[in-house]
Amino acid sequence: MIMAEVTDKLSNFQAPETAYPLPGSVPQPVYAPGERRALIAEIKTLLTTRDAVLVAHYYTDEDLQMIADDTGGTVSDSLEMARFGNQHPASTLVVAGVRFMGETAKILNPEKRVLMPTLGAECSLDLGCPPERFIPFCDAHPGRTVVVYANTCAAVKARADWVVTSSIAVDVVNHLKEQGEKILWAPDRYLGNYVQRVTGADMLLWQASCIVHERFKAEALANLARHHPDAAILVHPESPESVISQADVVGSTTQLIRAAQQLPNKRFIVATDNGIFYKMKQAAPDKIFMEAPSAGEGATCESCAHCPWMAMNHLRNLRDVLKNGSNEIQVPEEIRIRALRSTQRMVDFVNRKRNID
Ligand code: 13P
Ligand code: SF4
Repeated sequence: MIMAEVTDKLSNFQAPETAYPLPGSVPQPVYAPGERRALIAEIKTLLTTRDAVLVAHYYTDEDLQMIADDTGGTVSDSLEMARFGNQHPASTLVVAGVRFMGETAKILNPEKRVLMPTLGAECSLDLGCPPERFIPFCDAHPGRTVVVYANTCAAVKARADWVVTSSIAVDVVNHLKEQGEKILWAPDRYLGNYVQRVTGADMLLWQASCIVHERFKAEALANLARHHPDAAILVHPESPESVISQADVVGSTTQLIRAAQQLPNKRFIVATDNGIFYKMKQAAPDKIFMEAPSAGEGATCESCAHCPWMAMNHLRNLRDVLKNGSNEIQVPEEIRIRALRSTQRMVDFVNRKRNID
């Protein structure tokens, strides 16, 4: 019944064009002998002298994750990245990730300076949900509560009633369903579909996708799993349903790392960005991790199991922003105030839930 309504509504819904530029394969810096070590030392010193802290996502370069760990910063999923700035006294947050992560930090911490190693790191979900198309879509469905994934720009968050991340989406939608609310969900259709299947909520879905997770291939995954029957399959919910349906655990990046640590299996097939292996190996050093197969293996593949925008963060541009105070995130105040309502609602929901659990 609910699925029928969703399908019916979707048939009237013009999926947004997803004609945005991809960065292509991002060349990684080649360091001169000794340069890498010197950059790491310089960054650590600059973090102290600039009263700054590094907030990095699991998909970023291992050196950046290591620096964040060594200097009292954090390496985490997008929910914990959002929550961290508020709990840390530093006056500058340096966010290594993609732009929506820097914007979320600014929305929640207006008094702090938020810098990013690059302002060119986009996200296909954010690009696939431009506010000039999303806002009229919401206006056309006034009876629905607007729930947006954190992977959106500040103007989209400003139009939303709730912001969620993958680690909390099911709980928030269950909560709204209990209140009898119908949902307009954006932008990730795969995550939206997954949340709809798990909760049974009435959800109208925007149709954007993640160019990294969308490419995991169900048939190749099933073949690999047949060769490794001992392996547990860990899947991020931005992946297609045919991949999610094979998972032993579906969850946010942090939840997948925890599963790798807690499950008894020795071997794991992992369907998410391979940047996560750095922390997974730390969390479970005696275990074996394999990439789930994605499209374009051995051929042209600009986003197979690694986000091209996350790859734009590296030691040189991190050092440069710390040195020059450049690449500061700006969010117009009237948008920030409206985006704060929906974003803070998520943070408060998580805080309440953790106090109860
Ligand atoms: P997480 O919140 O699970 O870290 O996901 C963020 C993201 O962009 C995954 O592609
Ligand atoms: Fe966006 Fe996908 Fe990159 Fe995550 S991995 S930042 S969802 S493009």
